[in-house]
Amino acid sequence: ASKKPLRGKKVLVTAGPTQEPIDPVRYITNHSSGKMGYAIAIEAKNRGADVTLISGPTNLERPNGIKVIDVITARDMYDQAVSHFGEADIIIKAAAVADYRPKEVADNKIKKSDSNLSMEFARNPDILLELGKMKKNQVLIGFAAETRDLLDNAKGKMNRKNLDFIVANNIAEKDAGFKSDTNIVSIIDSLGNVEKYDKMKKEEIADIILDKAYDLIKLKE
Ligand code: PMT
Repeated sequence: ASKKPLRGKKVLVTAGPTQEPIDPVRYITNHSSGKMGYAIAIEAKNRGADVTLISGPTNLERPNGIKVIDVITARDMYDQAVSHFGEADIIIKAAAVADYRPKEVADNKIKKSDSNLSMEFARNPDILLELGKMKKNQVLIGFAAETRDLLDNAKGKMNRKNLDFIVANNIAEKDAGFKSDTNIVSIIDSLGNVEKYDKMKKEEIADIILDKAYDLIKLKE
């Protein structure tokens, strides 16, 4: 069967980790490689969509024909996501955003001493929660990275963040979640229906996500 086309549609994807600075030489981040989000952006472009990719720092090659906006911190990603949200038809948040950042960023390199070091953290904005509040007739899709109670936690996030569906991955499983070329996901829709998928290439998961997004866009038109 031919793929469901996205010609004329604007797709906004976030991918990769964020980096939260501690001092001029150090930062806090996570294991996201950007592969999942980039696979979605590339597949959306191949289906004819006009794609904007907001990317945290990754080592991936820049995809052709896609507008890439580079960001470092969660707050940068928030600003870009909010400013591009209004024009998008489909928004997919595959990025792994830091929930906290060091409260103070030291102007100079922190020197070691003989004692332990503690640090205070400030909450970052929840980007997806804000987008969920702004949502009109767009299709808004989130991910959930969990190490336990996968489906319950993912359902909670989907409802709280006003999503059309959420892609839940158990990042504790082998060949799933961060960095690998494959992922093992369950997709939960806003009616609470759950579809569990076997291990697949991230490109195949991108196809499933975009097919679903297409169906939902058609319903909202
Ligand atoms: O990049 P890869 O190496 O390919 O790995 C893929 C992945 C594991 C990063 C990806 O599949 C994934 O699960 N991304 C979401 C990771 C995450 O931050 O999950 P979460 O459960 O903490 O967040 C839930 C949702 O809210 C996500 O859509 C996230 O983008 C969003 N969020 C979270 C925190 C925050 N401050 N703002 C957000 O928008």
